[in-house]
Amino acid sequence: MRRAIYPGSFDPVTNGHLDIIERGSKLFDEIIIAVLVNPEKRALFTVEERRQMLSEALTLVEGRGCRLRVDSFQGLLMRYAVEQQADAVVRGIRAISDYEYELQMALMNRRQEPGIETVFMLAAESYSYVSSRLVKEVFSLGGTIEGLVPATVEERMRLKLGKS
Ligand code: PNS
Repeated sequence: MRRAIYPGSFDPVTNGHLDIIERGSKLFDEIIIAVLVNPEKRALFTVEERRQMLSEALTLVEGRGCRLRVDSFQGLLMRYAVEQQADAVVRGIRAISDYEYELQMALMNRRQEPGIETVFMLAAESYSYVSSRLVKEVFSLGGTIEGLVPATVEERMRLKLGKS
């Protein structure tokens, strides 16, 4: 039984995240999609909203027998990963710029818990420029984000930001 944690802010979940989950589901028996509870960082959506959007979005993912579970965590990722008895942490990589930050985190995480591997997965080319931050920025300025996030997320953004 191989269990992975896919941690992140998911503010909100994008199609890029869902692509990584779908690819990851070929490698693991269970993936826990873990939303970081970070009160210091200003987020658009509450943790509960982010969890709900993830749960809705996961119905669109072809899990191929892999159990997909949504959770949230506070504090040190590696402590949470040990608590969950995870074998690995999954992170998506879009570009070299991601790699530098991810490498630093992965090495620090390995130092904390050498028994838990970080598995980097390459994002689909079609989503290689998509980030939650840019999706929020473009949408709030009136641009289109169709195809970059699930329709349910777009609808919630419309409600949250009051765009027609
Ligand atoms: O989607 P994000 O915002 O890039 O995810 C970042 C995340 C949640 C993976 C990272 O901030 C994290 O692991 N935070 C938990 C605190 C922690 O363990 N920090 C040390 C990382 S080396």
